[in-house]
Amino acid sequence: MNVLGIESSCDETAAAVVSSPLQVRSSVVASQIAAHRVHGGVVPELAARSHLEALQPVLSTAVEESGLRWTDIDALAVTQGPGLSSSLLMGMGAARALSARLGVPLIPVHHMEGHLLSFFLSPEAPPPQAVCPLLVLLVTGGHTALIRMNAPGDYQVLGRSIDDAAGEALDKGARLLGLPYPGGPEIEKLAREGNGEAVPFPRGLPNSTSALERGGAYAFSFSGLKTALRYYVEGNPETSKADVAASYQTAVMGALSTRVDQALKQESGIRGVACVGGVAKNDYLRDTLLAVVRRHKAELHTVPLQYCTDNAAMIAAVPLLRSLESSTSVPAVSPNLQLNGLQLR
Ligand code: KG4
Ligand code: ZN
Repeated sequence: MNVLGIESSCDETAAAVVSSPLQVRSSVVASQIAAHRVHGGVVPELAARSHLEALQPVLSTAVEESGLRWTDIDALAVTQGPGLSSSLLMGMGAARALSARLGVPLIPVHHMEGHLLSFFLSPEAPPPQAVCPLLVLLVTGGHTALIRMNAPGDYQVLGRSIDDAAGEALDKGARLLGLPYPGGPEIEKLAREGNGEAVPFPRGLPNSTSALERGGAYAFSFSGLKTALRYYVEGNPETSKADVAASYQTAVMGALSTRVDQALKQESGIRGVACVGGVAKNDYLRDTLLAVVRRHKAELHTVPLQYCTDNAAMIAAVPLLRSLESSTSVPAVSPNLQLNGLQLR
């Protein structure tokens, strides 16, 4: 089974060919970051236009680099959402046209499920049945959640952010520090020269009953932290920017690792932890999580760097991993965005 994946939910136009047993044959990503950077964030109209221009060459390159022919493609997997609606439409339009031309099924995929399963793209990754039930920390620019994965397709959200996502907190924080978009990697770079204990920022951990009702037992909250940063920067212009960046990073990542630690203590039968999404690229987060996971004698599964941020290999892998679980040869993905209890705003 050869699946051609298409991803266009935000500012990356991506296509990839993934085959079963799980093997990434090609993965092409055309990033628009440079175009959006001058505006300090993603501009939806600009993103949609760039997708329209990039889709055809990106798709052709992905098939060419896979070593297969168009006629070898058995199914298309396309990101249905969540994301920018005008950007999603571009990918969906291309997928529909291709599906009709090639006469192959079109499988809509939830972008977050792509991230959730992305660590299986590592050539060293064990098969799902060898690692589940697994705790997955999903940290992207738009979402932050702690999820129990019983098997591909069987997820339970244990906690989520009640306001900003971790990546969003980093992007907005970077802006307050005068750093360019996207802010996560910029904060990480600057933080390497600073002291992460210099400023005692609040951790992004709500504990009020209403917050826990909204965000689950392992809720996150980053909007207060962002406000604390704004006040600190305004009131203390003399503090080294590297110290502020490092302390802010410590506060965001500290909230994430604390929740993982708590879940490892309290949830039963968890065999390991995976960290996925754009923020999972962060070395400080990886090191902190590794220390926590080792203390619990569990295993940390990381995602190859090129599959942390948005890509189409993770989208193409979803139907393959799901059909593997249900032992059918036909990709078995629900046509809507309901993911067995996984409902992310
Ligand atoms: O998963 P992703 O590519 O897109 C979404 O689905 O949102 O994640 C993008 C996010 C951005 O917020 C970006 O700042 C963050 O990932 N990011 C990082 C790093 N690289 C990207 N955050 C922290 N450290 C990094 N090295
Ligand atoms: Zn994403």
